[in-house]
Amino acid sequence: TTIRREDYRPFAFRIPTVQLEFELEADLTWVRAQMIVQRRMDLPRVSDLELDGEDLALISIHINGDLIGAERYTLTPNTLKILDVPDHAEIIIVSTCQPAKNTSLSGLYVSGKSLFTQCEAQGFRKITWFADRPDVMSVYHVTLRADRKQYPLLLSNGNLVLKKDLDDQRHEVQWHDPFAKPSYLFALVAGEFGCREHQTMTASGRKVLLQVYSDPGSEHQTQWAMESLERSLRWDEQRFGLELDLDRFMIVAARDFNMGAMENKGLNIFNAAYVLADPNTATDSNYQAIEAVIGHEYFHNWTGNRVTCRDWFELSLKEGLTVFRDQEFTADMMAQGLSATAAQSARAIKRIDDVITLRAAQFPEDSGPMAHPIRPQSYQEIGNFYTATVYEKGAEVIRMMHTLLGEQAFRAGMDEYFRRHDGQAVTCDDFVDAMNWALQKKNPTRDLTQFKRWYSQAGTPRVNASLAFDAATQCCTLTLSQECAPVGVEKQSGMKKLPFHIPITVGLLDEKGQPLPLALKGQDDQPDTEKLLELTKETQSWTFEGISKRPTPSLLRNFSAPVNLIYPYTNEELALLSAHDSNAFARWEAGQELATRQILAMAAIWRETGQTPAPDPVMIDAWGSMLKDTDIDAGYQARALSMPLEKTVLERMSAMDPVAVAQARVSLKRVIGQHFCKELIATYHQQSTPGKYSPAPGPAGKRALKNLALSFLVTAHQKEAIELAFQQFNHATNMTDRMAAFTTLAHETQGARTSDAITQFYENWQHDPLVIDKWFAVQASSPLATAKSMTGLMAHPAFNLRNPNRARSVIFQFCSANMLGLHAADGTGYAFWADQVLALDTLNPEIAARLARAFDHWSRFIPGVKDRMQQELQRVAAHPNLSRNTMEIVSKALAL
Ligand code: ARG
Ligand code: ZN
Repeated sequence: TTIRREDYRPFAFRIPTVQLEFELEADLTWVRAQMIVQRRMDLPRVSDLELDGEDLALISIHINGDLIGAERYTLTPNTLKILDVPDHAEIIIVSTCQPAKNTSLSGLYVSGKSLFTQCEAQGFRKITWFADRPDVMSVYHVTLRADRKQYPLLLSNGNLVLKKDLDDQRHEVQWHDPFAKPSYLFALVAGEFGCREHQTMTASGRKVLLQVYSDPGSEHQTQWAMESLERSLRWDEQRFGLELDLDRFMIVAARDFNMGAMENKGLNIFNAAYVLADPNTATDSNYQAIEAVIGHEYFHNWTGNRVTCRDWFELSLKEGLTVFRDQEFTADMMAQGLSATAAQSARAIKRIDDVITLRAAQFPEDSGPMAHPIRPQSYQEIGNFYTATVYEKGAEVIRMMHTLLGEQAFRAGMDEYFRRHDGQAVTCDDFVDAMNWALQKKNPTRDLTQFKRWYSQAGTPRVNASLAFDAATQCCTLTLSQECAPVGVEKQSGMKKLPFHIPITVGLLDEKGQPLPLALKGQDDQPDTEKLLELTKETQSWTFEGISKRPTPSLLRNFSAPVNLIYPYTNEELALLSAHDSNAFARWEAGQELATRQILAMAAIWRETGQTPAPDPVMIDAWGSMLKDTDIDAGYQARALSMPLEKTVLERMSAMDPVAVAQARVSLKRVIGQHFCKELIATYHQQSTPGKYSPAPGPAGKRALKNLALSFLVTAHQKEAIELAFQQFNHATNMTDRMAAFTTLAHETQGARTSDAITQFYENWQHDPLVIDKWFAVQASSPLATAKSMTGLMAHPAFNLRNPNRARSVIFQFCSANMLGLHAADGTGYAFWADQVLALDTLNPEIAARLARAFDHWSRFIPGVKDRMQQELQRVAAHPNLSRNTMEIVSKALAL
């Protein structure tokens, strides 16, 4: 069944207060929910109260003190309908659920020896019957009772109000959350934890207690998380004027968790992978991800919790906005304390990393069977719509508004949004309207009406650019035109798509690569070296005057819009941009385009001949100049010298050939590694970071460059470098260096020494699950891995299909990050995928459906590959009792 956005109806009742009581036990938990229910007189009268529930056993229902009989309600597997409810009623529902049997990790479940909840989007209905929808907001009072020994700590949202011991080894704790919230923000945790605490003040001088809870004995790994939390508090105060509104803010780390983390009011629950870190177990990227996710969940307190979503179609209201906020947080942290130029390149690094993710995850989604606008029109299972489109493209849409309005007006729009909607459940339109108000205050002639199309149309627009130069008039005309074919469900509906409002930041470079002043013809504004163009029609032109020679355009600077910009650059022009563009993002982009073209050309010839040709010297020289440029930041250099991802290159092929792309990419790497062997070894030694480990961008950038050099050299099978890699593996003083050496050795070398390294790594780290996830992931992503070796890896005693992190580190790595393994000619990779989707589907449908998405693009592959993928998709689709989650994914994939 498909749920449609236009079918939204407000709930006929308010539920202003809820009192929950729990007798917590892993096998059987008893729940009493007492709620005040009031019929809404402003809506058409509905006589029955229809509540959601799943996997619950009903014990009793009381209305206004009276026990009611079965004739007063109807019970189906997913609803409880209480008939003829009075206008005002106190309803008490008593029920039980079975946390230990709950392998879906949604609702109340067991992880290790503890109990956790995950309620977004629809997990609360597995705890008790309720109006489990975000527009019903209630004040919660929660009483938790449990065994004192087994569950010494009992947490829920808000403020602690009471704690007492009970008879027979039990105790009771009560929590009160003063802010009305939807059920998806409810949380409880019960178990034994270590705690790190920190007292701090908000900007207005209120004392608050910050706490990070994790497995006993892991307290030494939560310092970075606590520091990140405090930086998040300060940043939201300074950049957005938003303060923490509770006396206490808690983060709890869970070993079993479906996603990254969850912003439950005052009680964030996290995947332990985004909490625990120390230099010996976590890499630089782990440190950065922890800071970003802690920021993300913390920022939800305002964008998500204080102002929430009317319904789940509006998910991007909170997710796109909060991703934008966490991206800006990271960028500000990276630029902190740097000079203006250094800060620009530090911000560019963050932008580059985000654009890489967007292109690798969201662009493919936007051209496949699951394509949807950032505000979807319909879904079968909302769990499938926590997508790169809703999150990452959603953030791009917010970023475009930020670009169009400027920082000041954007901030005014945010302030207005909270002024209008604090405490409400609202829509994306409400957000854009607040921004529109701020834009019009600045300039009454402008508006965001056309801009709103980004919310209703899917697909990645293609923007074609062309440049005409007229020597006689010294004018240069840039023409931009946009197109965006229907994608995904748009195809069936035959929808006519309209032009988007696309901000495109541009510059022009002279033949030496110097920026030219840009003066729009007939406008006497201040010439600047950069202009923000707004493409709103299908085709538009801009003429710049006073230009004496044909310039090289620098287009879509900072990736000012989520589009594919096509311009017929020569390789020489790309080399010029890559050496000189004053915009650090566009400079990186030019180098990547050169490398992408090279890989595509090599892949095409590899397909014909099984050989790869020598690369274009222009590309090799440009790469070499970037390597030798000692004036640039090492972290930036590492990004500029990296090869584009296989996935991004594949997107550029009309018929995708994964093996050809993987082969071409590795041979380009090998050629470069051989060609620049001396320089790379020199770089390796120059970029060492002796002394105490710090995850700060400076040293992290140096490590990234050093380890990139090592990886090119080892890929080129350079003897001296292989020695260096073994030395680094054995003597590294931090996990970043250890992992880098381990990965390149495991992927690029074979033999007894490599096997010993793999065994040794396991033995040294078997006590730390997050490190063992890395150990599994390296093997699953190795070019040597096969479906057969994966089955072997899954027979390892440390493998556990029920733990999502472990499943991701093995199965997902192989199925979505291992081209050669998945696309092995014998088809075993495809069968492995189908087997694992089916195995996971009976345990955890949300995770199974994510894995199912690895085949979204089957129809775009070359013949042979495509047919085999289709067969396995059909095998999955034909399986009886498939979950709604997985069914939606495979049926949409096959409908294409
Ligand atoms: N709101 C959480 C976050 O983005 C993610 C929750 C995901 N829930 C789910 N069922 N997929 O921070
Ligand atoms: Zn979020």
